[in-house]
Amino acid sequence: MLLQRLIAWAKRIQLSIYTVLITLLVAFNSLVFRVRMSHENGVSARARIRILDDPRRPAHDFFVNGREFVGRVRHGAASFNDDAKKVVRSASVKFSDTRGRTPFALLMNTGDAPLFWDARTFASFMVVTMLGRGKYFVSHLRKYPQALVGGSVSVRRDPESFAGMSYHTQTCSGLLAADESRHLVRYRMIPWDGWSPEMETGTPEPWDAALPWLQNPFQDETRTRNYLKDELIERVNDRKDRVRFRLQIQVRPWLDGPTQQWASSAWPWDEVETPWLELAEVELTEVLDYKEAMLTWFEITQAPKTLPIPNAVSIDDPHSLNHLRKASSWGRRARLFAYKIFGMLKKFPDSRHAPDWTSEPPMAEPPGP
Ligand code: HEM
Repeated sequence: MLLQRLIAWAKRIQLSIYTVLITLLVAFNSLVFRVRMSHENGVSARARIRILDDPRRPAHDFFVNGREFVGRVRHGAASFNDDAKKVVRSASVKFSDTRGRTPFALLMNTGDAPLFWDARTFASFMVVTMLGRGKYFVSHLRKYPQALVGGSVSVRRDPESFAGMSYHTQTCSGLLAADESRHLVRYRMIPWDGWSPEMETGTPEPWDAALPWLQNPFQDETRTRNYLKDELIERVNDRKDRVRFRLQIQVRPWLDGPTQQWASSAWPWDEVETPWLELAEVELTEVLDYKEAMLTWFEITQAPKTLPIPNAVSIDDPHSLNHLRKASSWGRRARLFAYKIFGMLKKFPDSRHAPDWTSEPPMAEPPGP
């Protein structure tokens, strides 16, 4: 009994050490380079959000049928300042038209499984990212073959539009229903009309998906580094096209005791056993300017008490990924502080011949403009 307690205690200390070290690195990086730790490349829009009725969903005090919000959505790319690279894309949604504070926010990536699923695998991913990605990813993927699955299902190459992709929270969070029952939930956002996974734009060819660490644009790429963001601006602001998404939720009982293995982000939940239930309609109404996009931030801590983030007890606990994310709030603070002191970074140019463009592995001649 005493031994078990000591082991549990040691695991918590290990998680705290990981959290402090990772948070310090993230905050240092954001302060010095004035960037988001990830998803620096993005565009924000104002959005109309309406909670939908689905009787299969547990009644909840925040998700009240018919409730409407003016919110914001930020679409981005997880890494590299080039829309034509093969990278994970994102959709972050906040339930208020504000840069900062909001009653609720969701951060979602393409693909239903990530490259890391707890603090241990995230630390390994972070090391290879700091080394320079590319070939360094291979050691991470050898050690954690499941990361290859996550990488393959998450990256998108040359998508036509942010409006044609689906986005997943990938991690589990909590939902305390009006009748006081406890649930674990996952969210996804899919295009509004008749979407199926086969219709996803940007899904790489199987040979390309199997090599997620080769992220450079193809040699014959002709589009600019900003083509995907520009497409959204043109679609919403100029053409006034409707860009609508369906926000959906999966719900499972949140059992007492140690975290169940199925809370892991490493694999998605079965859609027959745990169907996707309708949650909200999200419609982009106006793409905002660059400055507004840079100042709009999203965090998983932005949630009512009835949508909690479960606590983690070790670096192998599935909830440890969200534990790190809660602490990484210091990265966002450091970034915004750096803007105040040194100013905001300028929008990166369209051309791959600009000095800030990077390739990994190195390309002799950057493609396109
Ligand atoms: C599956 C897990 C994860 C998902 C789906 C995810 C998703 C995202 C998304 C979509 C954004 C962009 C937000 C925006 O548009 O502004 C983001 C940014 C960020 N994420 Fe994650 N993330 C995950 C894991 C983590 C972890 C483990 C950390 C811990 C260090 C982390 C730290 C950050 C930070 C620091 C930012 C930038 C915050 C800012 O400066 O505004 N994320 N993440």
